[in-house]
Amino acid sequence: MDELTTLEAQLRFHDERYYRQAEPEITDTQYDELRDRYHALCNERGLAPADRYGMTPGDDRTPGFTTVRHRLPMLSLEKAADGEDGSAEGKLAAWVERTRKLADLASTAPLALLVEPKIDGMSVSLTYRDGRLLQAVSRGDGISGDLITDQVRASGAVPLEVAVPAGGTFEVRGELYLPHARFKALNKSLVAAGTKPLINPRNGCAGLMKRKDASALEGLGISAFVYHVAWAEGLELPSSQQAVIAWLATLGFATNPHVTRHATAGDAAAACRAFGDERGGLTYDIDGMVIKIDDRRLHDRLGTTEHHPRWGLAWKFAPERKPTELRAITVQVGKSGKLTPVAELAPVVLAQTTVTRASLHNFAELERKDVRLGDIVLVEKAGEIIPQVVAVVLERRQPSAVAYARPIVCPECQTPVLTEDIFIFCPNPTCGAQVRERLRHFASRGAMDVQGLGEAAIDQLCTTRTLTSPAQLFALTAEDIAGLERKGDKSAHNLIAALASAKNRGLARVLIGLCLHHVGEKLAEDLAATCGSMAALLDLASRHQAGDPAPLAQLDAIDGVADTTARSVLDQLASPAVRQVIDDLTAAGVNMTAERKAVRNVAGVAGKTFVLTGTLPTLSRDQAEALITTAGGTCSGAVSKKTAYLVAGDEAGSKLAKAQSLGVKIIDEAALRALLDLGE
Ligand code: IVH
Repeated sequence: MDELTTLEAQLRFHDERYYRQAEPEITDTQYDELRDRYHALCNERGLAPADRYGMTPGDDRTPGFTTVRHRLPMLSLEKAADGEDGSAEGKLAAWVERTRKLADLASTAPLALLVEPKIDGMSVSLTYRDGRLLQAVSRGDGISGDLITDQVRASGAVPLEVAVPAGGTFEVRGELYLPHARFKALNKSLVAAGTKPLINPRNGCAGLMKRKDASALEGLGISAFVYHVAWAEGLELPSSQQAVIAWLATLGFATNPHVTRHATAGDAAAACRAFGDERGGLTYDIDGMVIKIDDRRLHDRLGTTEHHPRWGLAWKFAPERKPTELRAITVQVGKSGKLTPVAELAPVVLAQTTVTRASLHNFAELERKDVRLGDIVLVEKAGEIIPQVVAVVLERRQPSAVAYARPIVCPECQTPVLTEDIFIFCPNPTCGAQVRERLRHFASRGAMDVQGLGEAAIDQLCTTRTLTSPAQLFALTAEDIAGLERKGDKSAHNLIAALASAKNRGLARVLIGLCLHHVGEKLAEDLAATCGSMAALLDLASRHQAGDPAPLAQLDAIDGVADTTARSVLDQLASPAVRQVIDDLTAAGVNMTAERKAVRNVAGVAGKTFVLTGTLPTLSRDQAEALITTAGGTCSGAVSKKTAYLVAGDEAGSKLAKAQSLGVKIIDEAALRALLDLGE
């Protein structure tokens, strides 16, 4: 496969892991490297920005939240990191020179730089009017974010009232974060309660801030540092960034105490390096430093690009990396048959733990990096994430290093493998490794959460009782279990009770447990919320199979679901093998219903009643209804005073006349799309 296509597929995969499943597989630095390599290659080949993958930066918007448009976009920062194309020092110096030119400053004119820690949390926009917190909004896609005012209020992270002159309104931006001690304490209590622990403080904080029950956020210790005032009306702001931070602190906001001011790029760079070396002492995560032009009057003059303001630069820290010998490559077979290469390494100590195995991600990546057996490879471990092989130390390659050949058969069942995109699959659904992995997953905490049915017990059940399908777990008897290693009568009875209660985890958990391609926790919850029951979902799958376009439109309307994903989910649910598993689970008495709720409340649609009439140019009646209801609106068959909008298409009849007589707003499909924020 061509390198550009490989890189794009990898970025897509890692975005899905990060944004939809909240389970990143690689570190941010590794992601940045992949993305940088992708853009460098795009530049080499002259690919226009519009034709590149991922030009809209990550989106945190979550189903069920009201979305609000930011008055000014929440942008990213241009970054300087050590890499193939030079040192971060060099990039910072070049940036300062460029900035001087853009701001029309002589090379001798003073240009003070502020250096601030770059907090690794969740960005938030906070608007205060007349001294009161009016609204808090997440970054979202940078243009619109989720309204999280209740959550921010309950978290106690920011002041709810500040002393500013009456009539003043301003928007302050900052980072919500979970301090290390709070993260550890929270994880301890989650594990004690049998719940999945948070992956890392940043993901944990972002997940918590999207809790619907805001009161659950009280007392968790979520904190915030604010660092920027985006706009202000009826207030005079100080003219330097340093003074703005001091002003915010006097209002009662938490501002970072490690902000320093420097006269030259060299001094600012030295401050960044020194802080990076010391960062172990902080009680919260940072992922770099931010260098800002201190004089705010220059900010307007410099302006912004579509992606970042020209007055700031992010200095990225490199995570700890060490060289070690790659002794072997083993292949793991996953629950959906995906073959993953794993590096077996000479032991190396990284971030206080000894590492002997590391992920090689996929065969395309292994080949792209030209990893050979016997090579010295660089291994990296950051945060809670599993170790990774990041590069080969080519200067230390021995002539004896052997290129690795992709497997052509599954290492478990010897079935010839299939290549799909950047991945290799074992296509045999009865492959022993796949069956075992699927059952492990089904019983795991993130899916049906069967207490006491861990990986070892599943492995034994697979070998001794030839289990092949999840429904068979519910037919196990206490005697079946008591025969297993380390399971006495008491734990056998506990396990039977745990299996009985697992039958009531609801539709989303069952969907997670089925190991369908693309269906992680988030999509499973969205599907459950949109469809309400497995029966409804299967009905959609059948209708899709029969050529009805409405089911696809209904799943497409779920935020963040690509058309290919929606198709794949419907196709899988229509497959006889999956149907059989579902039928067996139904027969075993597993509850497959969910509370029905709106997928995402869109302001202007949520809570409003719509009536549809006539033929719309592109949407069918079902599609339009699905779009409205998933945005939190309701559809009615008759026009009344309560109707907010009549959506009229061609050949609209008596409903149109009635709406006109009642003064109900009449809109066409384009206006409906605009209301739903769907574009043309
Ligand atoms: S200034 C264009 N200052 O880093 C946004 N950002 O990578 C200007 N961040 O979206 C933000 N600490 O969420 C600024 N001291 C700091 C920061 C900071 C963390 C985050 C922020 C921003 C992201 C850009």
